[in-house]
Amino acid sequence: MLNDSYRMTGFKSAIERVVRPGARVLELGGGTGVMSFFASRHASKVWCVERNPEIAGAAKRILSLNPGFEKIEVVEADASEYLPPEPVDVLICEMLHVGMHREKQIEVISSFKKRYIERFKTSLPLFLPEAAFLAAQPVQQSFDFSGYYAPIILFQDPYCEKKETIGLGDPFVYQMVQYNENLPEHFSWDGIVSISASGVLNALRFITKNILAVLVSENSTIDWHNQYMVVPLPAPINVKKDDKIHIIFSYKPGAQLEALVKSIIAIRQ
Ligand SMILES: C[S@@+](CC[C@H](N)C(=O)[O-])C[C@H]1O[C@@H](n2cnc3c(N)ncnc32)[C@H](O)[C@@H]1O
Repeated sequence: MLNDSYRMTGFKSAIERVVRPGARVLELGGGTGVMSFFASRHASKVWCVERNPEIAGAAKRILSLNPGFEKIEVVEADASEYLPPEPVDVLICEMLHVGMHREKQIEVISSFKKRYIERFKTSLPLFLPEAAFLAAQPVQQSFDFSGYYAPIILFQDPYCEKKETIGLGDPFVYQMVQYNENLPEHFSWDGIVSISASGVLNALRFITKNILAVLVSENSTIDWHNQYMVVPLPAPINVKKDDKIHIIFSYKPGAQLEALVKSIIAIRQ
């Protein structure tokens, strides 16, 4: 994660823009501690909450090698239960996987919001990320691995087009997540997709664009994409331009990938 330059520069610039001098910051799921370190450059206090004792220990050790560590308190706790001792200005939470699978970002933030309002009776902090767009795209994917055909889930670098993946239609947004609003307990799509190029539709490519910060004065946002995920369809469909395909899928945020895979249906209209 520390080696992922897009992730690091995106979060660093968003944190620098959002965390004002003297701010109090809470990070849920602190991992390496790097986001708390970025926050500590301007913040007066940062609580960095990490559930895994080994990771929390490593974060403490690494943070102590960097300037500003005295402002950061690494707390070994479950983010679904922890609240800071006082209200905070910014909440950083990056328990993110493409499509919001596997990691409990939504569950943890929903629980935090409820408990925070009950305890502090004040407005919620700024969320970083602020929002996310979840999209899927019909694609033709090569599942040939040196002559071995294996239709399996694949992950891709989002910042580098792959010749093995051919887009057969535009990505469609199936869910928008705004962390300061009510958060969805279920994601689903049931709709018709237009095909824009002929080929073999054999997979859906899942795209998750995180809006790390909204820069109102500049009319822009700081964004970061999770890895793309290509999920094979139950059966390939030969398609041509202007064909309409009925696509259905659903899963719960934080669920394992099997739930999505089992739910996918694709039928020519
Ligand atoms: C994707 S990592 C991100 C870490 C951090 N943003 C970084 O850059 O190093 C998510 C972290 O959240 C932690 N985590 C997951 N669930 C948690 C929970 N319920 N409470 C506290 N930490 C949790 C994991 O152990 C992991 O270190």
